[in-house]
Amino acid sequence: MDTPRTATTAIEQAPHPDAIAGLYDAKTRDASGLNARLAAGDLLFFNHNGVVNPARSLDADKPLEESVRLRLLHELEADLVTFGLDYLGEPGPSSVVLDAGCGAGGGGIMIHRRFGCHVEGFTLSREQARFANAAATILRVDDHVSFHAGDLRELPLESDRYAAIWACESTEHFDDLGAFFARFRTLLKPGGRIVVIAWCAGEGQEAERLKARIDDHYLTTIHPPAAYLAAAREAGLALADRVDLTDRTTPYWRLRESSQHATGSERFMGDGYATRLVTYELFALEKS
Ligand SMILES: C[S@@+](CC[C@H](N)C(=O)[O-])C[C@H]1O[C@@H](n2cnc3c(N)ncnc32)[C@H](O)[C@@H]1O
Repeated sequence: MDTPRTATTAIEQAPHPDAIAGLYDAKTRDASGLNARLAAGDLLFFNHNGVVNPARSLDADKPLEESVRLRLLHELEADLVTFGLDYLGEPGPSSVVLDAGCGAGGGGIMIHRRFGCHVEGFTLSREQARFANAAATILRVDDHVSFHAGDLRELPLESDRYAAIWACESTEHFDDLGAFFARFRTLLKPGGRIVVIAWCAGEGQEAERLKARIDDHYLTTIHPPAAYLAAAREAGLALADRVDLTDRTTPYWRLRESSQHATGSERFMGDGYATRLVTYELFALEKS
């Protein structure tokens, strides 16, 4: 058996973390932007795709009032978390879950509501952490849930601290996936799960062109699915489950494209998912 890659303290990250922080600071501050509008009702602020789960039917071409469309987009984003948490194991009420790249807190608050556990979230963006903590206070979950403006690369490597790790659309910002996974393995308790949900790069020249466009627009370094599997293996994490969510996220992007508050990336993202030049995947990893 190969020796698992061990956690190191020095990990390069590109694009530069300051640029990523600036991007999310701006998205969070923009009260008239799509993300903030979707969070206005219940204060669950997400920066991730929505998915259409099998129990719901959606005709993305059906004309809708904008307020109905926005409500639906928000529900589809929340449905992603509801779906993904089914793969996180059963962290108990006294346990702590790491929300790795927590954004503005919507996912972390949902994790607490599902399991009753403590949640520690980390984001590069001060504005996201500020919004997330304010929402947690208003929603009266701040005794269990806290969000920090901090870099995951600098998180003290306390072995077995977390019962589970949730990394929803944050690993796209990690150019060295293996190094992050090695850290996560150290931080995770034996038997604990890591759920990674990620935009994944496809193969071929057209997919490479789309990857370049996505990386430029979102300050990411998206990886092919094989890179996730290799990084997990190298870190000594077993693949417990893998779900391809590409077909379930395409209608979300089509619905977004018809919104008055579309952000400009909807056409190329929707086309990319529809043609599978980019895929949307969940990986559930386990520490033995
Ligand atoms: C697309 S957002 C996803 C946010 C959230 N997980 C969600 O689902 O709404 C990516 C997040 O990853 C965070 N991130 C990326 N690299 C990070 C790092 N090195 N340390 C902490 N957070 C990081 C960003 O600050 C941002 O909050």
